[in-house]
Amino acid sequence: MISIRKQLELEMIKAFEGAGFDNKYAFVSVSNRPDLCDYQCNGAMAAAKEYHKAPIDIASEVVSQLEGNALLENAEAIKPGFINLTVSNRLLAESLGQMSVSDKLGYEPSSEKRTIIMDYGGPNIAKPLHVGHLRSAIIGEAMKRMARFCGDEVISDIHLGDWGLQMGLIVTELGLRKPDLVYFDPDYTGEYPKEPPFTIGELEEIYPTASAKSKEDRAYYEKALLATKEMQDGRPGYQAILKHIMDVSIADLKRNYDRLSVSFDLWRGEAYASTYIPDMVRDMKDKGYAYESDGALVVDVSEETDTKDIPPCMILKSDGAALYDTTDLATLVWREQDYHPDEVLYIVDKRQDMHFVQVFRCAKKTGIVRDDTKLTFLGFGTMNGKDGKPFKTRDGGVMRLSELISDINQKMYDKIMENNTMSSDEAKKTSEVVALAAIKYGDLSNQPSKDYVFDVDRFTSFEGNTGPYILYTIVRINSILRRYHEAGGDENNFGITEPFDENSRRLMLLAVRFSESIEGAYTKLEPNRLCAYIYELCNAFNHFYHETRILAMEDEAKKGSTIRMIAAVHAILSQSIELLGFSAPERM
Ligand code: ARG
Repeated sequence: MISIRKQLELEMIKAFEGAGFDNKYAFVSVSNRPDLCDYQCNGAMAAAKEYHKAPIDIASEVVSQLEGNALLENAEAIKPGFINLTVSNRLLAESLGQMSVSDKLGYEPSSEKRTIIMDYGGPNIAKPLHVGHLRSAIIGEAMKRMARFCGDEVISDIHLGDWGLQMGLIVTELGLRKPDLVYFDPDYTGEYPKEPPFTIGELEEIYPTASAKSKEDRAYYEKALLATKEMQDGRPGYQAILKHIMDVSIADLKRNYDRLSVSFDLWRGEAYASTYIPDMVRDMKDKGYAYESDGALVVDVSEETDTKDIPPCMILKSDGAALYDTTDLATLVWREQDYHPDEVLYIVDKRQDMHFVQVFRCAKKTGIVRDDTKLTFLGFGTMNGKDGKPFKTRDGGVMRLSELISDINQKMYDKIMENNTMSSDEAKKTSEVVALAAIKYGDLSNQPSKDYVFDVDRFTSFEGNTGPYILYTIVRINSILRRYHEAGGDENNFGITEPFDENSRRLMLLAVRFSESIEGAYTKLEPNRLCAYIYELCNAFNHFYHETRILAMEDEAKKGSTIRMIAAVHAILSQSIELLGFSAPERM
């Protein structure tokens, strides 16, 4: 289905041409003065320079070409040279009617299907999942769902931080605490136990303890380095511990991501990529890209046009160890080999910007990816507490994700119980659904690149620009639909007719913008655009609802048509929240 905006643009192209102007000025956008018109075109202002003519004259000449146009109720040239467009009510009714019976609510992809690898999540094994990882998971999941809806093929990869010193630290600490475990006996040749020698709780305590010790105790640090190397070189006992660490951590991560409705196609990590490092490094040396500098192996990635210093990409440290740059490059090797993606999209903290500039340039320069492979960094800002500092627990510690989720669930539960409308069992289930919406919408409604304040009170409110408000609106429409059906109504016997007042018109006008909103959110990498759209749509619905007694309408045809309209709004909202990564309860 062609969007109304696009349809109008096609008309404007004809009008500009008809009036003797270049059609490149015919761009149509949603009006920023909805009180005056629905859409607008500002092209006459730009055209004025080329044609040395007053913008208002150009606008008037274009508008005169639009006379009698069936799509338009009104077209007007406004000083200094705006063209204001008001669409016809018939067009609105027809578009919404068509939308409501089409696949994907009328969305049609505007470009060819592409293959995209999305890299998000990025948790580190054995370290607790904290709120810093929350944004990556939430934004990444929304991007994946939107991309798939828009017709692209997505492979999501969690890119585990499972390689390096943290593993050696755990082995070292465990060896000190439980030296009698068979894993530490170099002469042991039997089978290793199936049961892990620690729980996730212990593991999450062992790592920070070991990490702190290593910073104070040089000998301890060296020991951990050696253990890391031995593990990577294949020492059986250490490999067995590694397997336990991975199993225990991954089971815990899966639980956490499940609670967030976040999932991944691939659970590969840095360790997986590491097997590609030796060949990759050899190739970089053979082709003359990598050279030694102060003992380290580096690749220059600066470009003439750089306005700031872009340091070389570090491939190997002087002791031959791989670095963060190295594993990310090696990861691109398998991604290219296995999937030939058109694009690789990274959803990572924006403070890692420089790392990705270096990795992207190095990957292109050394031919790890093709010239036309798009490498995109979607860097997000920090989630802060009300004090404007990174979100912490009440006693100032790093907030664990599981704690945060439990806190919000509890808050939602209390709220729902206050209303006293459901059993505590139902309230528990409902609160989990609503809490997830509160968290995700609270995050996604901000432009990703910006820092934002995680304000628990605001996010869990049923009013204002919040997830619970969106859900509340969906539940409200649901209940009207249910009551209509219970009374024997069947809206499918009616068509969607023209709006009958300003409120119904506004609601339809917004409803037909769904396709553009989703496409804008996806292509601009800004899920916040979809949030802003559904918030506006909810406001328009609630306004309409307060002014209209829908179920009490006497004219059955008018009622049926109205029900169809709000059913379409319901479908749009439900589809949108699914793309954002949450769902609505039956009641709340
Ligand atoms: N594990 C990293 C961290 O916690 C994030 C990984 C992001 N993805 C990547 N391909 N580097 O900071």
